[in-house]
Amino acid sequence: MTSVLITGANKGLGYETARRLGKLGWRVFLGSRDEGRGRAAAQKLAAEGAQVVMVPLDVTSQEAVAGAVRLVREHTDRMDVLINNAGTAGGGVNPAKATAEDIHAVYDRLGPIGW
Ligand SMILES: NC(=O)c1ccc[n+]([C@@H]2O[C@H](COP(=O)([O-])OP(=O)(O)OC[C@H]3O[C@@H](n4cnc5c(N)ncnc54)[C@H](OP(=O)(O)O)[C@@H]3O)[C@@H](O)[C@H]2O)c1
Repeated sequence: MTSVLITGANKGLGYETARRLGKLGWRVFLGSRDEGRGRAAAQKLAAEGAQVVMVPLDVTSQEAVAGAVRLVREHTDRMDVLINNAGTAGGGVNPAKATAEDIHAVYDRLGPIGW
């Protein structure tokens, strides 16, 4: 069975990707920085028949990444696909007016994730 971890999968493009891959029979590790939102999303997908494991994961936290690796390894010793989707477009700040903080808010979301 193909396994995929999707970060920021509790909503938006990440959730839709999880939904579609779940329908294809992939095992979906659904990353969410908020456990409540993640569980709600995972339950919806499971109700549609997907094999889904919710993984608490804030991609800006090294500790959370390490915890996610431990959790995934309890279920599988291999990850076929990583979709590092979590992020923000930065709220549409005009580039000419963006501050260093605005830019960090976008780039920090790339986080320390690595497998
Ligand atoms: N939609 C577009 O047209 C478009 C265009 C270009 C690029 N993108 C990129 O594609 C990705 C998904 O876009 P989207 O429209 O689906 O965005 P979205 O609806 O805002 O969803 C973003 C997801 O990322 C999560 N997230 C944000 N920061 C996080 C963090 N530090 N750790 C873990 N999860 C985090 C959010 O969690 P919460 O629910 O907790 O906030 C949410 O689940 C983003 O990276 C975005 O920049 C989107």
